[in-house]
Amino acid sequence: MGKKIFSGVQPTGNLHLGNYLGAIKNFVKLSKDKNNECIFCVVDLHAITVSQDPKELRDNIRETVATFIASGIDPEKNIIFSQSKVSAHSEAAWILSCIARMGWLNRMTQFKEKAGKDKEKASIGLYSYPVLMAADILLYDTSHVPVGDDQKQHLELSRDIAQKFNNDFNVDDFFKVPEPLIQKEFSRIMSLKDGLKKMSKSEISDQSRVNLTDDKDQIINKIKKAKTDALPMPSSGEELSKRPEVKNLIGIYSSLTDLNFDEVIKEFSGKNFSDFKESLSQVLVDKITPISVEIKKLLQDSNYLDKILLDGSEKADKIASQKMKKIHEIIGF
Ligand code: ADP
Ligand code: TRP
Repeated sequence: MGKKIFSGVQPTGNLHLGNYLGAIKNFVKLSKDKNNECIFCVVDLHAITVSQDPKELRDNIRETVATFIASGIDPEKNIIFSQSKVSAHSEAAWILSCIARMGWLNRMTQFKEKAGKDKEKASIGLYSYPVLMAADILLYDTSHVPVGDDQKQHLELSRDIAQKFNNDFNVDDFFKVPEPLIQKEFSRIMSLKDGLKKMSKSEISDQSRVNLTDDKDQIINKIKKAKTDALPMPSSGEELSKRPEVKNLIGIYSSLTDLNFDEVIKEFSGKNFSDFKESLSQVLVDKITPISVEIKKLLQDSNYLDKILLDGSEKADKIASQKMKKIHEIIGF
């Protein structure tokens, strides 16, 4: 049987290799299976949990749509839309915030990381962010949610919220309890400058990530300068537990080539590090530059991108508003 897929990406700029290998690559694969129904959402309401410049936000929304399409998601066969245009998301988030418990949210590690030391100054939206994410998922009877490893905890919260709602109102299976789809290997791509930190949009140094809009020279340069260590290429996987940067680069190579980790180690064992970096740059350039060129081309035509969002939001709104109607009935509104 086919799957009902829903996932979201924040329009906060700098989409990078981590987003691609951790999430978007999987979106593309799932969307190509004719049995699946896929919805991909540009989660702009999530983006404003930290302050955004309106012009940049507008550009980033279009860039995220362009990235989906350039990566291989067909907008005719799948729904691509922006969250703010389907009001059921905000409404369901409020209702579900009355189901979710403070104790559950207090455990969310992403909030702790993002809020940093001064929690008092974080927005309430940043705190309740995972409840909005639950609303996104549950409105569409989603069966599977492809995400990177960092979103696992949020997905567990969505499952808890669905189950509590179903129990509280005695409506078995009203909200479908969603399953995560997280890649088993290399679900977390690390920074090129620090193998213990995840590759991230918000990292100040651009050298820490490969952006999906980088050109050939930028990619080659970033890989050349990527942090490694003084030891030669490893001859076994066990050697890598204390070499996070090397492990990450081998992981990236393995993800891009669909070779497993041991195969990659075997291929490069005994060779110079520079040989490996050269091969890695080559596979990155082959994979990323066509996407980068296509993103830039699509961005020239903002009317086309806006039309996709408009069509997508009409389709999404139909599904979400029907679910919302049933939610009202169940609650007693
Ligand atoms: P972020 O600010 O974390 O990049 P996004 O909403 O843009 O947040 O993330 C989009 C998707 O990319 C999510 O499924 C997330 O888990 C995934 N992702 C983000 N960073 C990484 C990474 N370094 N490695 C693997 N997956 C990642
Ligand atoms: N919180 C996710 C992230 O930062 C983005 C997101 C919002 C999402 N709503 C979602 C992902 C629903 C999957 C399903 O990456």
